Amino acid sequence: MSGYVSAKSRVLFILTLLTLGSVLAICLPAAAAASVDGSLKLMPVPASMTVREGRFRVDEDLTIGGRSPQTGRAFKAAARFMSRLAGRTGLFLKQDFLAAQDPPGEGGVLYGFERAGALLPNEDESYALTVDPDKVTLDAKTDIGVLRGLETLLQLLSVDEAGYYFPCVDIADKPRFTWRGLLIDVGRHFQPVDVIKRNLDAMAAVKMNVFHWHLTEDQGFRVESKVFPKLNQLGSDGMFYTQGQIRDIIDYAAERGIRVMPEFDIPGHSTSWFVAYPEFSSAPGPYGIERKFGVFGPAFNPADERIYPFLDAFLKEMSALFPDPYLHIGGDEVEGHQWEANPAIQAFKKKSGLADNGALQAYFNKRLLKILTKYGKKMVGWDEVFQPGLPNDIVIHSWRGPKALVEAAQKGYQGILSNGYYIDLCQPAEAHYLNDPLPPDSPLDDRQKALILGGEATMWSELVTPETIDSRIWPRTAAIAERFWSPGSVTNVDDMYRRLGLVSVELEELGLLHLKNPDMLLRRLAGDPRIEPLKVLAEAVEPLKNYERHGQAAYTSLSPFTRFVDACAPESLAARAFRKNIDQFLTGKDPMLGREIGATLALWKANHVLVLPLIAASPALREIEPLSLGLARACEVGLEALDRLMKGQSQPAAWAEEKGKILAEAAKPAAHAELAVLSAVTKLVEACAGPVK
Ligand code: ACM
Repeated sequence: MSGYVSAKSRVLFILTLLTLGSVLAICLPAAAAASVDGSLKLMPVPASMTVREGRFRVDEDLTIGGRSPQTGRAFKAAARFMSRLAGRTGLFLKQDFLAAQDPPGEGGVLYGFERAGALLPNEDESYALTVDPDKVTLDAKTDIGVLRGLETLLQLLSVDEAGYYFPCVDIADKPRFTWRGLLIDVGRHFQPVDVIKRNLDAMAAVKMNVFHWHLTEDQGFRVESKVFPKLNQLGSDGMFYTQGQIRDIIDYAAERGIRVMPEFDIPGHSTSWFVAYPEFSSAPGPYGIERKFGVFGPAFNPADERIYPFLDAFLKEMSALFPDPYLHIGGDEVEGHQWEANPAIQAFKKKSGLADNGALQAYFNKRLLKILTKYGKKMVGWDEVFQPGLPNDIVIHSWRGPKALVEAAQKGYQGILSNGYYIDLCQPAEAHYLNDPLPPDSPLDDRQKALILGGEATMWSELVTPETIDSRIWPRTAAIAERFWSPGSVTNVDDMYRRLGLVSVELEELGLLHLKNPDMLLRRLAGDPRIEPLKVLAEAVEPLKNYERHGQAAYTSLSPFTRFVDACAPESLAARAFRKNIDQFLTGKDPMLGREIGATLALWKANHVLVLPLIAASPALREIEPLSLGLARACEVGLEALDRLMKGQSQPAAWAEEKGKILAEAAKPAAHAELAVLSAVTKLVEACAGPVK
């Protein structure tokens, strides 16, 4: 036994070295580039930037201070800036001057602003940042601009032989879109306060400014109502935010220049409301909290006059709790069966001349709009609220496609785009990055374009828990943040990925768990701290994309999300780097690159025998055997093809056919995941033998 363990440990050690080698090979060019020109790692890219000669040295004498009216927000941001800088550099920065609140003399970071910014769309978030060898100057109209500039300065931090420095730059920056949001669905899976706060920190780091809090769903009613306490008492399994916690989060967001827009999704997606109040639904109860995922029947009964005073009282309470002038009423996916089956609703439709369910929902929305207007709120709703008869001071939030947004803008409605930013679907960052709320071929005129406020990444939470949510949001959302902030001409995908890897590491200093929790999950699954083979496999694997994972098991809100697939990143940056390497190799057959690819293929091939004992020791890991075996077999094929290519030999079509079968077998989903490196291996085979069928 001990012989086995030590042999295994030795192999693990060698493997660790190999893996470190491959990781370093991927990271080194980026790190080197960052040290040569730190300005190149900014994300989002500023509107305008000039890099000059010279470096401002960051040492223990660094000071920061304001030379304009102080508000708590800028001062606290400066304190956080110093603390993050100290944490990142290990420098014992002197920070007592912060407590003294004396504006320090010349020579440090000096910021200034004219007024406190308002947390409203179209507020000025611009800033001008100048780094000279002897001073850093940050000027903004508002303190929110100062916050945005401080994040840029932190990202400018670079290293050389002498230590840390900020490169000399002139940056004049401002956002392209005023609405740069992240939706977090806390209905399907509750996300405690600390999850929300760390994600607000991450949002601020990439200059996002709207936290869209999806607070009610079929699966949970997550906000405390003091007027109707049964709503959260019966509709949440005890997992809801108290009003004190909500105020705390709103304050936390405000200090980071982030608005908090609540969503109460009605009239559909509302089962959890009816656990306490079945009488407001369109069919007799009783109702229980929904555990499954999908589109469900329960919906408010628009024909029942009793719902309006109820919703009035509830929305009055929520309007006071949430200071943001916008309130999202959902409105998506009303399934319709309850309305169809209810004779009173059908009679009401007839009497009121409402031709269909869309018209009935428009009637309901008009009643809601009156209530919201009374409480000083502007209405935001998903595509489905865009119905004839609603005034154009509501905001259309498009999830079904950009077409609806264009149509809405042509009719004078403001809009926000989320179609294309569904980060729960595990698509690559590139797909989101190239999705533009206002693409170059937009048919809108300038006046209509101004109605497109921006967009939101949406973290729907069917398949995430507090342990995994960060890895589903980050780092890909940083690419979306860049789409919303940077000029539309910033579209270089490779450069985005290079910076994405760097930003990802920076987000960790804010407490984000996207990089370390996967290891924790793997240790738990293995019941063993030595998880290197699992990490190697996870690097080559991605969760099934779009809605495919839902087809693999009867997932509910009570399912475990602690399996191997949950430890796999939605997009493996290592797999992407491998695919890029293969593409590059196939253009020039560079032998150095060929050897590097060969080393990676050999590592992945050899990994299977190391995974097997871990699987044997853990029933929860048995499901990954086909993935691991598939990877080994595919890599064996890849090595064979690579060898032929390096020797300049081609292979007969029959060989490609035989190898194609192995690759097809490896391509089958297993453990709710799939290999992310097969397309690249297939290219190698095709390069020496023609098309693989
Ligand atoms: C949605 O995805 N139903 C807004």
